[in-house]
Amino acid sequence: MMQAVLVGDFKVNRLGFGAMRVLGSPDVWGPPKDPANARKVLRRAYELGANFFDTAESYGPQTGEMAIAEAMHPYPKDLVIGTKCGLLRPKPGRWDPDGRPEKLRKDLAGSLKRLRLDCLHLWQLHAPDPKVPFEESVGVLADARREGKVRHVGLSNVTLRQLEQARRIVPIVSVQNRYNIGDRHPEDVLKACEKLGIAFLPWYPLGDGAALKNRKVKEVAKKLEATPAQVALAWLLAKSPVMLPIPGTSSIAHLEENMGATSVRLSDEDMAAL
Ligand SMILES: NC(=O)c1ccc[n+]([C@@H]2O[C@H](COP(=O)([O-])OP(=O)(O)OC[C@H]3O[C@@H](n4cnc5c(N)ncnc54)[C@H](OP(=O)(O)O)[C@@H]3O)[C@@H](O)[C@H]2O)c1
Repeated sequence: MMQAVLVGDFKVNRLGFGAMRVLGSPDVWGPPKDPANARKVLRRAYELGANFFDTAESYGPQTGEMAIAEAMHPYPKDLVIGTKCGLLRPKPGRWDPDGRPEKLRKDLAGSLKRLRLDCLHLWQLHAPDPKVPFEESVGVLADARREGKVRHVGLSNVTLRQLEQARRIVPIVSVQNRYNIGDRHPEDVLKACEKLGIAFLPWYPLGDGAALKNRKVKEVAKKLEATPAQVALAWLLAKSPVMLPIPGTSSIAHLEENMGATSVRLSDEDMAAL
């Protein structure tokens, strides 16, 4: 039985699935390279217990959300989809923050349509835009929640100060920041999430592969007869009860391996070594 975590009033299994990689393109650009494979990976992720999917308007752009709807709609009752707004993709390789209210409102209308939902489950601001007052961007997410177009609001790539600022405007149910065994900043945000009962979604949970080469991870994996990816994910799960890792892959074999992390138990001694 997989452990669960609350994302607002949704109870979801820990692990989730990061759907950015299903497009199969290193630049996260264009439609899925292999649509049948993308469909298969998404469906298999749910089958294996991942009932939280993370996506964004900027994946593709837009094709990431379309791939989820294509594979999963009509959605199983317990599938929770988190999408994000506020990044512009002028060309492959570029991810430019655009937190202007007009852009966020356009993203909202588009995400609702592409995901075929009347109300987004979780709408996250992808990243603060230094050119736009943070409160102004967050205000759009708060309005959408008030209007019943989104159930819950989340943040991504924020500091503790920004989390506190946003919480004065709207209830925040999740924070998605970069965090993995080799890159543990910013723990102050994780600690605040624990205290407040906010889900923490570490992106880059495998450090885009770097965690798999970590010497200590490899040693513990060998001892437990697990794989390095499983140990890196089990470490995240053991680190905090609000942790909801969202590893991403376009490979069924990697997906199955990653989901196996939920059965890896790390002892206090393993945690100390890591
Ligand atoms: N909020 C943000 O700013 C932000 C930024 C980046 C990502 N994200 C979200 O976070 C999710 C996870 O991040 P991520 O996908 O960049 O990083 P990740 O999960 O740490 O790493 C994914 C990479 O590792 C490979 N991989 C996955 N499982 C593996 C395994 N068992 N063995 C060997 N290689 C493996 C994948 O390639 P294969 O396809 O070959 O398996 C892929 O290249 C994304 O899908 C996205 O939803 C959010």
